[in-house]
Amino acid sequence: MTVQRSKLVIGNWKMQGSFAANSALLSSLVGKTQGVNVAIAPPSVYLAEARQQLTGSSIQLAAQNVAAEGQKGAYTGETSAAMLADVGVTYGIIGHSERRQYYGETDSVVAQKYLRLQEQGIKPVICVGESLAEREAGQVEEVVSRQLMAIIDVCGVETLANAVIAYEPVWAIGTGKTATPQDAQAVHRFLRQLIAADNKNIAEKICILYGGSVKADNAASLFTMPDIDGALVGGASLVANDFLAICHAAKASIVG
Ligand code: PGA
Repeated sequence: MTVQRSKLVIGNWKMQGSFAANSALLSSLVGKTQGVNVAIAPPSVYLAEARQQLTGSSIQLAAQNVAAEGQKGAYTGETSAAMLADVGVTYGIIGHSERRQYYGETDSVVAQKYLRLQEQGIKPVICVGESLAEREAGQVEEVVSRQLMAIIDVCGVETLANAVIAYEPVWAIGTGKTATPQDAQAVHRFLRQLIAADNKNIAEKICILYGGSVKADNAASLFTMPDIDGALVGGASLVANDFLAICHAAKASIVG
């Protein structure tokens, strides 16, 4: 029996935005995303302002990063999960390839961030994905299973009941190259089976997003795949009409 999972679309603004630009973008989104779960991840300095503007809206807040070390203390420049919870954050993106690549985040740091978020009731969005060289070397399953198992081994499979996974092939991020729906589906299916080997119930329920150059014109075909439960959107989340088109494609793909 197949489980009907609801769809989720998260906009990752990365290091982009300003008070004026965010305000314009959010006012174009509010009230137009009914019927689908939507979140936006502005830079942390703008989270509180975005919270204000989203009051009464179903759009939720996501953080792009979180401190691994603890919930408070002498960690200059860091933002704790407790602070993110305090400003009303629902999701926390961890393990994004940009953080792994530019800030040296290892699988074990990602697992610590996962724990800090869960301590505060924030749902981690665990990003996994292979580089082009790894894909060409036939190592896709090896890489994504290493990245996911690093969390399962430390935190336990049952904690995935309060988490989301995002499969983001590194070669597809910001490049305009998307995995074909079939290639993405194969990895999503693999990830779900990996979890099912430990816990079938959690595997059936967990939301697995696809990320990497998701646009208005490729979203619908990705969302028809049985194991693709939504998208983590970078570039296209900065353009209101493009992001809304992706949200509407997610809504349209919900059967029944
Ligand atoms: P992109 O980014 O949509 O611009 O490719 C996706 C991401 O990095 O989450």
